[in-house]
Amino acid sequence: MEPDRYDDLDGQVALVTGANRGIGRQIAENLRDRGATVYAGSRSVTNETPEGTERVLLDVTQEGDIEEVVDGVFADQSRLDILVNNAGVGGFGDDIVAEPTERIDRTLGVNLRGPMLMCKHAVPLLLKSDGGRVVNVSSGMGALGEEQSGGSPAYRISKTGLNGLTAYLDGQYGDDGLIANSVCPGWVRTDMGGEEAAQPVEKGAETPTWLATFKPGAPSGKFWRDKEVIDW
Ligand SMILES: NC(=O)c1ccc[n+]([C@@H]2O[C@H](COP(=O)([O-])OP(=O)(O)OC[C@H]3O[C@@H](n4cnc5c(N)ncnc54)[C@H](OP(=O)(O)O)[C@@H]3O)[C@@H](O)[C@H]2O)c1
Repeated sequence: MEPDRYDDLDGQVALVTGANRGIGRQIAENLRDRGATVYAGSRSVTNETPEGTERVLLDVTQEGDIEEVVDGVFADQSRLDILVNNAGVGGFGDDIVAEPTERIDRTLGVNLRGPMLMCKHAVPLLLKSDGGRVVNVSSGMGALGEEQSGGSPAYRISKTGLNGLTAYLDGQYGDDGLIANSVCPGWVRTDMGGEEAAQPVEKGAETPTWLATFKPGAPSGKFWRDKEVIDW
């Protein structure tokens, strides 16, 4: 059954991390085009963010940035309807013996600790809106139901953990109306995905954007790819 969704996001406020390039940039543009006021997170002042969005300086490893941005959204809008935890780093191939410790720390810091801190600060604001949404941009590489081999342990485990955050948010706040979902965007042609990737960025942003339009009562606590629920 097709989940209940908003046709447009007029009057709603969204915050997207890592919105200066790749999938996050496309998600920010999609939400803007659907009428939302979009705060586009960028960790550097030299990064460009999409026209028609509000650029906010947001390195997800910096709790001070996170607090400042969430406080700023509250001061400007008194509401936040959508948080898209998209920012991520990779580093692929090595097994756990070869994986540099610096990469383990950085990957878990950006991909898992970052979204946890985003939620720590943004959930109170999301709960003010009926059906506030968290969209966690995860990866099939972190799905325990898919074969866990081929290296990249830090990346895989960061995404397994991110899926754990989704399940936790649903368990803890689902009865209060929060809608939290994880999504695998597929293998997408971005700096991270590389030129050989199967899908254009528009396709990679499609299901994350779709999840951001869920209405109160729509499914929560699930892992999605191509608008279908997949196994954790
Ligand atoms: N591409 C794929 O095939 C694929 C597949 C599965 C899942 N994903 C996931 O999709 C998401 C987006 O990936 P992508 O392919 O669009 O990657 P990308 O093109 O490499 O873009 C990554 C984005 O994250 C930002 N970022 C990195 N570290 C950050 C930090 N500390 N704070 C804030 N922003 C930070 C980057 O900003 P800078 O420009 O400043 O570096 C950039 O905006 C990631 O979570 C990724 O794991 C991608």
